[in-house]
This record gives sequence, structure tokens and C-alpha cells, in this order.
Amino acid sequence: MPSGVQAETKTYQIFINGQWTDSASKKTFPVYDPSTEEVIAQVPDCRSEDVNRAVTAAKAAFEDGPWATTTAQERGRVLFRLAEKVRANLPALAELECRNSGKPIVEAEFDMNDAATCFEYYGGLATKVMGYVNPVPDNAMSLSLKEPVGVAGQIIPWNYPLLMAAWKLAPAVAAGCTCVLKPAEQTPLTALELARYFADCGLPPGVVNIVTGLGETCGAPLVQHPDVNKIAFTGSAAVGKIIVQQAADTVKRVTLELGGKSPNIFFADADFEAAIDGALFGVFINQGEVCSAGSRILVQKSIYKNFIEAMTEKAKKIKLGPPLERETKMGPLVSKEQYDRVNEYLALGKKEAKLASGGSRPEKIATGYYVQPTIFYDVNNSARIAREEIFGPVAAVIPFEDERDALKIANDSPYGLAAAVWTRDIFKAMRAVRALRSGVVWVNHMQPTYVEAPWGGYKQSGFGRELGPGGIEEYLETKQVFINLNEQPIGWY
Ligand code: NAI
Ligand code: MG
Repeated sequence: MPSGVQAETKTYQIFINGQWTDSASKKTFPVYDPSTEEVIAQVPDCRSEDVNRAVTAAKAAFEDGPWATTTAQERGRVLFRLAEKVRANLPALAELECRNSGKPIVEAEFDMNDAATCFEYYGGLATKVMGYVNPVPDNAMSLSLKEPVGVAGQIIPWNYPLLMAAWKLAPAVAAGCTCVLKPAEQTPLTALELARYFADCGLPPGVVNIVTGLGETCGAPLVQHPDVNKIAFTGSAAVGKIIVQQAADTVKRVTLELGGKSPNIFFADADFEAAIDGALFGVFINQGEVCSAGSRILVQKSIYKNFIEAMTEKAKKIKLGPPLERETKMGPLVSKEQYDRVNEYLALGKKEAKLASGGSRPEKIATGYYVQPTIFYDVNNSARIAREEIFGPVAAVIPFEDERDALKIANDSPYGLAAAVWTRDIFKAMRAVRALRSGVVWVNHMQPTYVEAPWGGYKQSGFGRELGPGGIEEYLETKQVFINLNEQPIGWY
């Protein structure tokens, strides 16, 4: 294992108040390499009392520690140093991410780079948070001040482990919040590695605390904790709904990113080769374990047959294999649980639609949670494989007649995270941009995501926007300050 990363099968500790520590119970749970199905580490099984300890540290750091009086410039510099550390350790972090999540090493390297870029972006933005002078009609000065929201509880998924940690931590730290981060139980290792850099980067104890544990026993107590002011969550719609309910008791601020069933729409006039490529990339990148996966592929009837043939031919050539090999384009799914879930959808898809390719595990690979890139066609948009998020390499191809038909099918979904449209007609593209009810619309591409641009969903894909300048707003409160410039008494009574 490259230096800079703890050795495999190590028992990790959690990070609270600047210290490495065990869970109160000293219990741990195993973390796997999904390509070998072997245990590679043990991490603390944190419960309420550990969450309490982490929240207490975060609250103290917010109220009394050096962080309480830190300047935006200092917070920005902390984030720049963190970005540098991630870049300096990029190969080791990417390897660990690859082993733990199953994603191809080349994609893991992109993710580490994106995580560093996210820290840099919010490092820069820390000093660009500005308030207002409100033009009130009196001899007074009215100000709007921006202040950190307080203690942020951050619960993240397993598909982009370190990148999701960066999306959550970077704006929170820039805003001056303190954090308790709970990584996904499947993939907690890179977030724990990140914590090893905090002290060197000048992050005071208690500002970022990391607890590992399961959703119901570690995530839920964080959501319910009265001293947590805000919850930022990325994960399933089912858990998102529970979080909104549980956060209601203490009126927490909540932002949710809950995935989707995103339409990738191909008109007959699209560049054919680019279209096939875009359809495959949209749904199969990261094994299809992507919140914005273009998992509903809408194709105009006049090109439908050729499209499925070309897509199938190319999908069969996608290289599945050990994620650490650089030629690998698709690794295993993250866990046994996810593998079973996706397999249930494969069985369902065979009943609901026609199978063009894939549909099972690859014959030549005996171990690991691999699933072939799978294409179902003649899918009805009311089928479960067209309505429910599968989060695996499974495409549902749906034919459409004309533009009106396409947009109607595209919007007929409980979700609204992402959409893409492929055409050479700019007017048609712009009509689609306007009509599509989703947080991002790509034209002649699918998936590029930038820290500089907002990210989040319409409808049941969630609310709030991460990334971009607005991403920091989600961690800020607005305080109105009124300064009376009139020296006379009010004179009312
Ligand atoms: P999940 O939503 O259960 O897990 C995401 C995070 O939430 C994890 O850190 C988990 O420990 C935590 N969590 C779970 N239950 C919780 C609770 N009651 N209170 C607080 N935190 C809780 O997702 P899971 O079970 O791993 O995957 C199920 C499906 O969710 C996937 O098949 C996929 O469709 C969707 N998903 C969507 C993601 C996205 O990017 N929007 C990411 C991961 C999963
Ligand atoms: Mg779950």
C-alpha cells in the first residue's frame, strides 16, 4: 500500500475534537473490497453516545474555540491547504477509494482531483461572502449580515465517498460552521484519511468531527440531536423523507439530494455516434451508481432500432474487471446489498421489458459484486424499471414519437434531478431546456458536473442547492441589524 494511507485490515478510529478515539462500546463493523468480497478494515460502530460526543465537540468549537473568532481569510487558507494535501496524497487516496468502493482507478483519480478542486473553490469563496445595506426609509442603517448556521450534521452516500465529503465539508468550513460528518457505512475510509490532514492544515479541534456507523443507529441520532442546526443529506429518497420528518422536531435546516431517474433524450437529428457514446456514458459511468444517471434513455422512433443495435454492440465491449487495473471501465457494485438490489431489478426488467444485452453477472468473473452493463428496451415509462432508481448499470430504453411526446415522458417521473437532450437544432434544445423539470439540463452531453455550478433537484430529488456560490448560502443565516441614527426619543407615549 502506498505511503500516506493506513495499511489494509487496519482497525480505524473515529475523529472527535481533534483526537482519534474508539466508539464508546469499542464495537466495530467490517468494511469490504467489493471486487474480492474480503474485509479490508474495521471501523467503529458509533451510536448515540458517540454522536453526542461529536456534537458536543462541534458545539464547543463553534461557540468558544478559536474557530468562533476565525476570519474568512483564515478559513479560506485552511481549505487551500486541505486541497494541497489531497493532491499530494492523490495516488494513495485514489487507490483506497478504488478498493473500498469498486470504482475504476481512473475514475477514483478524477474524484480525488474534484474533491481537491472543491476545497479550493470554497477556500476562495470564503472571502466573498457579503452582506447588504438595506435602504430603509428612516434615519437609520439597516444591515443584513451573513453568519454561519452553527453545527452541521452531514450524512453522505457510498458512490463518491471522498467527493461527497468535500461537497459537504468545504462550504460548511468556508461559512464558519462546525461539522459532524457521517460517511456511508460501506465506504468510510477516505473520509477518515482526510481527517489525518486536519491538524496540519490549521483546522482547530472540534471543527470537523467524523463518526462512522449505520444509518439508523448513527445517522438518525445526528438528525435528532437538538444541538445540530442543519442536516445536509445525500442518499435515497426513502431516507430523505425520514430525515425531513425527524428534523421537524427541532426545526433544523435541511438540504437533500436524493437521486433520480433522469431522462437522456435522443432526437433523430442528433449526431449518431456522439449520441450512442453519450447514452452509454450517461448510464454506465461509475457502474451506474450515480444520482444523475441517465437511466431512462428516450429515443425517437425513426432511429430507435439502429440506436439499440449500436448501443448494445458498444455496451458488450465495456471492459469489466478489477478496479485497480487501468484498462477497467466498470468495476463491481459497492456491496452485496446493492448487488442483490440490482439483481432484483434485472429479474423485474426481464418481465417488464425486452433485454438487449447484459442482464446478469459476467460469466468470466467468479468473485466480486459485478453486474454486466444491461440494456432493456421497449420499456413503458410506467414500468417499475422506468420509475424507480436502480443505482446500477441498468438502462431502460423508451421510444417516443415526437418532441411533445418526449418531453411528456421525460417529466413523467417523481424525480427531477437531471436531464439531457441531444439534437442539432438549437431551438428544439432550448424548448426542451425550458420544459424539463429538473435541477440540471445538459445539451449534447450528460454528466459533467462542476463545483462552480449549482447542483440539486426538483420534485422528489430533494431541495437546496450544493456547489456554486449558492452552496455556501445553505450554511449561512441572515441577521438583520438595525442601527438607529436618530438621537431623539421615539416619542410615541
Ligand atoms: P441510504 O439512503 O440508506 O444511505 C445513505 C446515507 O444515509 C448513509 O450514510 C446511511 O448510513 C445514511 N442513513 C440511512 N438511514 C438513515 C437514517 N434513518 N437516518 C439517518 N441517516 C441514514 O442509501 P443505501 O441504502 O445505501 O442505498 C439505497 C438506494 O439509495 C440506492 O439503491 C440508490 O437508489 C439510492 N442512493 C442514492 C444516492 C444519491 O446520490 N442520491 C446515493 C446512495 C444511494
Ligand atoms: Mg439504506
